[in-house]
Amino acid sequence: MGVDAAVLKKQAAAYAVDLVQSGMIVGLGHGSTAIHVVGLLAEKLKSGQLKDVIGVPSSYQVEEEAMRYGLPLRTLDENPMIDLTIDGADEVDPQLNLIKGGGGALLREKIIAQASRREIIVVDEAKLTPVLGRKRCVPVEVIPFGWKSQVMFLESLGAKVTMKRNADRSPFNTDCGNWLFECNFGPIERPHILAEKIKNRAGVVEHGLFLGLASEVVVAGVDGIRHLKRGEGGISPSDFGKEF
Ligand code: A5P
Repeated sequence: MGVDAAVLKKQAAAYAVDLVQSGMIVGLGHGSTAIHVVGLLAEKLKSGQLKDVIGVPSSYQVEEEAMRYGLPLRTLDENPMIDLTIDGADEVDPQLNLIKGGGGALLREKIIAQASRREIIVVDEAKLTPVLGRKRCVPVEVIPFGWKSQVMFLESLGAKVTMKRNADRSPFNTDCGNWLFECNFGPIERPHILAEKIKNRAGVVEHGLFLGLASEVVVAGVDGIRHLKRGEGGISPSDFGKEF
């Protein structure tokens, strides 16, 4: 029987939290894996294993969770440079490019990632893929004004587009007051070209293709933890081709 994804997510989070040092400013990602990071960091601060760590949350949800744990927090404006961010992802390819934003927080997550000296992504091995877009849609955040024209534009790029909605069918609002569209492009052979096309469109605020932003990826799998580092090699594309 396979190991539960939730268990693997917690293992990846614990490994990354061990890389945090006292005195660091730590970016806090969004999603179920990133929430483990919050709890584990809080435990280490409480036990005295870590001191003077400050978190910078990437969403209201993670901020609330961190406050519940009593984790000291600051905003990105108060601390515009982050030592280390730990965040989850929806898909990871062999170049450590990502799809993120399934949880609806991609804009702030990307801002936090770009403000970080190190961006460590924590995932269970089911998130690995040889080509982005094989398993997950690319979320695209747009302003509500003229949204139907953005849907037509995204369709013209080859996507099947679905609006992200709340349980009552109302449009899901991001923390920045925008709407999100899940775009199924199928396998994305040239993610940089697609990313540029989407980003150039007026009304599109951001997209969930995180290209060249992750410095490291911690993968928890049934055979243990792998710590993948950008530019250090050792990443076998065949690892990313497995079906989990
Ligand atoms: C949040 O907007 C996302 O980018 C998450 O990091 C991503 O969806 C991974 O989520 P889980 O850790 O819950 O799988």
